[in-house]
Amino acid sequence: TTPAIFASADDGNDAASRYQATVEQHFQSQYGRPATVVVSAPGRVNLIGEHIDYNDGYVLPLAIERSVVIAAAPAPENGPAGQANLYSMDLAESAVIRLDQELQPGSESWVRYVEGVLDGFRQLGVEIPAFDAIVGSTVPLGSGLSSSAALEVATATLLEQLTGRTLGQSEKALLCQKAEHDYAGVPCGIMDQFSSVFGKENELMLIDCCSETVEGIPFNASDVSVLITNSNVKHALVNGEYAARRSQCESALKKLGKTSWRDVTLADVEQANQKDAVGLNETEFRRARHVVTEIHRTLKATDAFRNSDWELAGELLYASHDSLRDDYDVSCPELDILVEIARDIGGENGVYGSRMTGGGFGGCTVSLVANEHVDAVIATITTSYESKTGIKPTCFSSRPARGAHVVKG
Ligand code: ADP
Ligand code: GAL
Repeated sequence: TTPAIFASADDGNDAASRYQATVEQHFQSQYGRPATVVVSAPGRVNLIGEHIDYNDGYVLPLAIERSVVIAAAPAPENGPAGQANLYSMDLAESAVIRLDQELQPGSESWVRYVEGVLDGFRQLGVEIPAFDAIVGSTVPLGSGLSSSAALEVATATLLEQLTGRTLGQSEKALLCQKAEHDYAGVPCGIMDQFSSVFGKENELMLIDCCSETVEGIPFNASDVSVLITNSNVKHALVNGEYAARRSQCESALKKLGKTSWRDVTLADVEQANQKDAVGLNETEFRRARHVVTEIHRTLKATDAFRNSDWELAGELLYASHDSLRDDYDVSCPELDILVEIARDIGGENGVYGSRMTGGGFGGCTVSLVANEHVDAVIATITTSYESKTGIKPTCFSSRPARGAHVVKG
């Protein structure tokens, strides 16, 4: 279980170093010697630009003040050779990776994320020395805040230290994305791994998923908070639905006669919905409408965040949610309930906007909330969601956090 820390954004940094020390102590007690390397890689929350990182879009995430931390050291001289020993504090599970053999996808367990990254380094011709490691996380697992990308990026950061082979930032994020594709079987875009690598304090990231570049958008507001609410549900079939969305979009783009969604206008999509036109089917039409309108909303929202126009940013969050629910079909009743509760609280009581965030089918919502109202908003969401669903939500706010880095070593 995730420790109940980071209750408020204000104690983020202290809590992070306390947590790093906890993982380090765990290493000492499990392996009987100190860790020589400690690394940290954050999860992320996406403000807007959902399901368009694999559709030539723009996304606007921030790295959050919750991270995967790995404490490690090279294997002792007299220890068993040719293996990596791992232990996850969150799953209370250990694992051994044989380094004297070829690595191959196929594992269903959490180690596949680590193996995928190890394999990526090997494919660069880098030899991996035997090591021991403890993994601990303050990113809730499987809640759409990219704990898996954080695990991959933390692993890559650890391997940079252990092997001396440093990667460029984009190279590192792309290596981790490949691990997710090949080893976890999720054909994800670049958002999660880029966010975990490129995160900066006081900045949102506008990621251009065509050029694979990141522009920092200053976000240091003292009057507004990014509130994350975990619905604490996760519906099955997420991965299958994700892959289905990808292929529906590919097929729609082809029928539209374009090679990039950047070149598609809403008029193109609407025209293609008419019977005698190129013939998008009903599903493809709605998927296409989401992609094109979400690209537009993301750029508009970026300007709104730049101008501290929280009303406009909030409206765009709601519109994004409606589109994900109605056109992209990736929401679920619990996420819709959370967003409706936010709408009911309304702007006059401090909520500017709210939407599902991440892949969908459960996980979290992200809301933009006036600071002075945050506590009251959390209280209302908690009571109201619980009375409607019987499930307790988990809320926390986060400021933009620093991307993956070495804490020790
Ligand atoms: P998300 O990335 O949104 O949190 P995923 O379902 O894609 O959700 O990834 C979650 C998986 O990542 C977990 O089920 C587990 O296999 C792995 N994982 C993430 N963090 C840890 C951790 N601290 N220890 C072990 N496994 C982890
Ligand atoms: C995530 C995926 C990202 C992105 C997101 C939806 O699960 O890893 O790449 O596509 O869904 O915006």
